Amino acid sequence: MKLFFIVLISFLSLLQASKGFDFDEKELETEENVWKLYERWRGHHSVSRASHEAIKRFNVFRHNVLHVHRTNKKNKPYKLKINRFADITHHEFRSSYAGSNVKHHRMLRGPKRGSGGFMYENVTRVPSSVDWREKGAVTEVKNQQDCGSCWAFSTVAAVEGINKIRTNKLVSLSEQELVDCDTEENQGCAGGLMEPAFEFIKNNGGIKTEETYPYDSSDVQFCRANSIGGETVTIDGHEHVPENDEEELLKAVAHQPVSVAIDAGSSDFQLYSEGVFIGECGTQLNHGVVIVGYGETKNGTKYWIVRNSWGPEWGEGGYVRIERGISENEGRCGIAMEASYPTKLSSTPSTHESVVRDDVKDEL
Ligand SMILES: *[C@@H]1O[C@H](CO)[C@@H](O)[C@H](O)[C@H]1NC(C)=O
Ligand SMILES: *[C@@H]1O[C@H](CO)[C@@H](O)[C@H](O)[C@H]1NC(C)=O
Repeated sequence: MKLFFIVLISFLSLLQASKGFDFDEKELETEENVWKLYERWRGHHSVSRASHEAIKRFNVFRHNVLHVHRTNKKNKPYKLKINRFADITHHEFRSSYAGSNVKHHRMLRGPKRGSGGFMYENVTRVPSSVDWREKGAVTEVKNQQDCGSCWAFSTVAAVEGINKIRTNKLVSLSEQELVDCDTEENQGCAGGLMEPAFEFIKNNGGIKTEETYPYDSSDVQFCRANSIGGETVTIDGHEHVPENDEEELLKAVAHQPVSVAIDAGSSDFQLYSEGVFIGECGTQLNHGVVIVGYGETKNGTKYWIVRNSWGPEWGEGGYVRIERGISENEGRCGIAMEASYPTKLSSTPSTHESVVRDDVKDEL
């Protein structure tokens, strides 16, 4: 019975969060009204703040609400909302959620490794749109919470994708195993790169499932993989998409979800709600995500479908569409700079899997 209530309550709060949070222009007219709006927002997102923080948080909230309001009045192809990041400053946001300094990690690691090849180099035709969610190759949006483990979420999503494509089985995999065990080059909640994480999974003989090794958003635990049984999903290695080339990236995404790093540090990204994101953002890569498709709006704006790891309430159900095919080679928000994907050629994958179906492969 108790369990039932817990399930019910989390279901209801999920329902509430997914309904979104709107406000009226009138609520911005007086200081008192903005306070009321702030209280309403806190109730909606179940945000609790220490009382000595209340004024500070309110000040930040007011600033962000006005930013959302002003931006949404402009004729931009994307909209903002006062989501659950609405009472943290841009600086706090960057350090908690977009703080994986890719340049720093890349410098420590040296040049990109991997097989050196690009298996999609000779692809000449790709569909005009692809959505791996529709093909069942993408698990539900996850939430890294206040831990800089975006790199683990990006890695795992790409592995979940190729595993589904090769074995026809979608298995949610363990970010926590990477956070706890892939510690030689990656740094748990302090950030990391997807590329060494693919290498780790290969050398480690696979990765555990989300179910057997669940996420706990901290990096204080030791690696527990050896004491955990159950299914292990393997990959054969990883490759890079030739950098700064969205055409090459397109070839890869047409065949599987691809891990990328982006510059997610702007306040518009923090408060993004829907539409095609055209910036502001630079190319200081600080966040790992995964591209799960691409398409074009009715009026011809091309976009990438990007799965984030900030929960389903952010953006379009946890996703953002980022403008595609811009004149700068790095792509919007640097999306074409650091793209890589796991390879899985064989279908002898997870320890429990023996039947292989090729129908997903054949669709492309
Ligand atoms: C498409 O529509 C959006 C939003 O109305 C607009 O900002 C954008 O410039 C349009 N793009 C084209 C190519 O017309
Ligand atoms: C692409 O084509 C070239 C020339 O035929 C060939 O040498 C190369 O191996 C091909 N690459 C792949 C990944 O198949």
